[in-house]
Amino acid sequence: MCGIVGYVGPRPVTDVLIPGLSRLEYRGYDSAGIAVHGGDTMTVVKRAGRMSELEAAVAGLDVNGGRGGVGHTRWATHGAPNTTNAHPHQDCAASVVVVHNGIIENWAALKSELVARGHSFASDTDTEVVAHMIEEMADLPLAEAVRQVMKRADGALALVVMRVQDPDLIVGARRHSPLVVGRGDGENFIASDIPAFLEHTRDMVVLDDDRVIEVRPESVTITDLDGNPVEVRERKIEWDFEAAEKGGYPTFMLKEIHEQPDAIADTLLGRVDASGQVQLKELELDDRLLRAVDKVFVVACGTSYHAAMMAKYAIERWTRLPVEIDIASEFRYRDPVLDARSLVVGISQSGETIDTLAAIRYARAQGSTVIGVSNVVDSALARESDAVLYTRAGPEIGVAATKTFTTQLVVMQLLGLYLAQVRGSMDPGAIEQLVTEMRTLPEAVKSVLERDDEIAKIAAEFGDVRDFFFLGRSGDFPVAMEGALKLKEIAYVRAEGYAAGEMKHGPIALIEPGVVVVGVATDNHVKSKTLSNMEEMRARGGTIVLVVEEGDGDAKEVADHVIEVPRGSDLLCTVTAVVPLQLLAYHIATAKGLDVDKPRNLAKTVTVE
Ligand code: M6R
Repeated sequence: MCGIVGYVGPRPVTDVLIPGLSRLEYRGYDSAGIAVHGGDTMTVVKRAGRMSELEAAVAGLDVNGGRGGVGHTRWATHGAPNTTNAHPHQDCAASVVVVHNGIIENWAALKSELVARGHSFASDTDTEVVAHMIEEMADLPLAEAVRQVMKRADGALALVVMRVQDPDLIVGARRHSPLVVGRGDGENFIASDIPAFLEHTRDMVVLDDDRVIEVRPESVTITDLDGNPVEVRERKIEWDFEAAEKGGYPTFMLKEIHEQPDAIADTLLGRVDASGQVQLKELELDDRLLRAVDKVFVVACGTSYHAAMMAKYAIERWTRLPVEIDIASEFRYRDPVLDARSLVVGISQSGETIDTLAAIRYARAQGSTVIGVSNVVDSALARESDAVLYTRAGPEIGVAATKTFTTQLVVMQLLGLYLAQVRGSMDPGAIEQLVTEMRTLPEAVKSVLERDDEIAKIAAEFGDVRDFFFLGRSGDFPVAMEGALKLKEIAYVRAEGYAAGEMKHGPIALIEPGVVVVGVATDNHVKSKTLSNMEEMRARGGTIVLVVEEGDGDAKEVADHVIEVPRGSDLLCTVTAVVPLQLLAYHIATAKGLDVDKPRNLAKTVTVE
C-alpha cells in the first residue's frame, strides 16, 4: 500500500506534490520520491525515510519551472526500503518515469525478457519493469503503451506514468488498487487517495478497474484496455481532511477492518497458483532443509500469538510435525530444546517487538532455521531471519491489530500447506481443495462485513456488561482469544478467552446472570462439543452470543444472539470467524465514546522487555 500523487497544471509542481504526499504518508512511509517534467527533461529526486527527508532534498532544487510531475510514498513489498528502490523508477534512457502501488505478480518473467533484450535494471522492485516496457514502445502514444503494459502485467496495480516526449500528460491505470482523479480549472490531479488533492479541488472522477486515464491540464479521458472511450463519472467530495484520510470511516480501526478483503487478496497474490499449489518463492529455503525439519516452534506476542495458536493446529494437522507455540517473552527463559532440525517461525506485525526478536535470536544461536512473518518490509525481524514471509496488509494505524491478524492467519495457513506440499504429507488433491477455498476468503470476509449493523445492534445491548468470556475449541480457540483481547484493549472490559472445554475446571464458577459468553463454533469436528459447553453457560444464567456457520440450526436453540459467517473448512474459517468479534469489540468501545485508534496504556510497537 503506497501513496501516489500526480499533477499537471500551472502551479509550481513541488508545491502540489510534496504536501500531497505528506497527506498520504498514512499509506506508507519508508521512502518517497518525485519526478518533475521540465519540458524536455525530467528531474527525479528520491530519499529513503520519512517525507521530511524528501522535503529537505527538494527544497534546494530549482524544479519549479515544471509543467507536471508525479510523486510516491512507499510501503515496500519488493526490495528493501532504500533510496534506490524508492519510486519513481526509470527506463535505461531516463525517458520514462513510473510510480506504482500494488504487486506485479509476473514481474520476474517480464524482467528476464527485458534483460535478455539488453535492458539494465537499477532497482530490486517489480515496478521498474513497467518503465522498461514503455521504453520499448516509444513509437506508441503513451496511453496505448500503458494499455499494453496492463494487458501483460498480472496482479493488483495502480500505475502513473510520464514520458519526456509528452509534456503536460500523465497517464494512469488501475486494477484492484485505488486511483482517483481530481478535476481543477486548467489543472488536474491523480492520486491513490482523495486527501492528496483535497485542498485544491472537491471534484473527483471515479476510475474503475482495467481503465486507462489520460490526464492533461484541460482534459481527462478514460478508455478501457482496448482503447474504447469510457464515460467519465464525476463526484463531489463532501469529506473534510480527517474523514478523507480515513476513507470516510470514523476511525482508522474501522477502515482497517473493512480493508481486510483487499489485504487478504493481496496476501494471497502470486502465492496460490491456478493448479492449486502453494508458491512461496520468496522463502528461498532449500526444500531439503524443510524436509529435514523434525519440529516446528512458533513464537509471537499479543494478537500475533493468536495467529501462532492457529498455526499449531494447521501445521500439525497438515504436516504431522510436532509444533510448539510460545509467547515470545517466555521462550528463551524456559530453555527450549532446539537444534539444527528445528524450524522456528517468529510472527510480528511490526517486526520490531523486542520479545519476538530476542526469541528468534536465541533460536538462531542454537543453530535453528528461522522464518520471520512480518507486515513491515526490512523490519528487524525480516533482516534477522533466514527467510521471510510478508503479510501484505499495508500500514496499520489503529493500535488494535485487525487486518494484520487475518493476513497472518492466511500466511500461516499458506506456510502449513507449503510444508505439507514439500514434505508430501498431504494428498495434493486435498491441498488443491484448500487452496481453491482460500481464494474465496476475501469474498467471504466481505459478506461478514455486511453484517456490521446486525453486530452493532447486539453490541448496543452490552454497554454496561463488565464480564465477558470468549470460548472456542480447536481453530475456534485462537479466534476466541483474539475476540477477548480486542474487547480488553479497546473497550477496557474484562474479557477472558478460554478453551470451551476448560470452563468446567474452574472458571464456570464465575458464570452468573449479567455475564456475557461469546462462543465460536465454526470448527465442525468439535462444534457439537462447543455447543454443549455453551448450554452449560446458559444454564448458569450467562447471556450467550454464538458465531456459527450460515444455516446452523442447532445454534439458535442455545444462543440469545447468533452471528453467522459463511461455511468453510475448519481452520480456514478462523479468518472469517474473527471479523464479527473485531466489530463487536469496536461497537462496544465506540458506544462508550472511547478512542479505539489509540487505546490507553498501549503502543503500536513494543520495543521494551
Ligand atoms: O508487532 P507485533 O505483532 O509483534 O505486536 C505484538 C503485540 O504487541 C500486538 O499484537 C498487540 O497485542 C496489539 N495491540 C493487538 O491488537
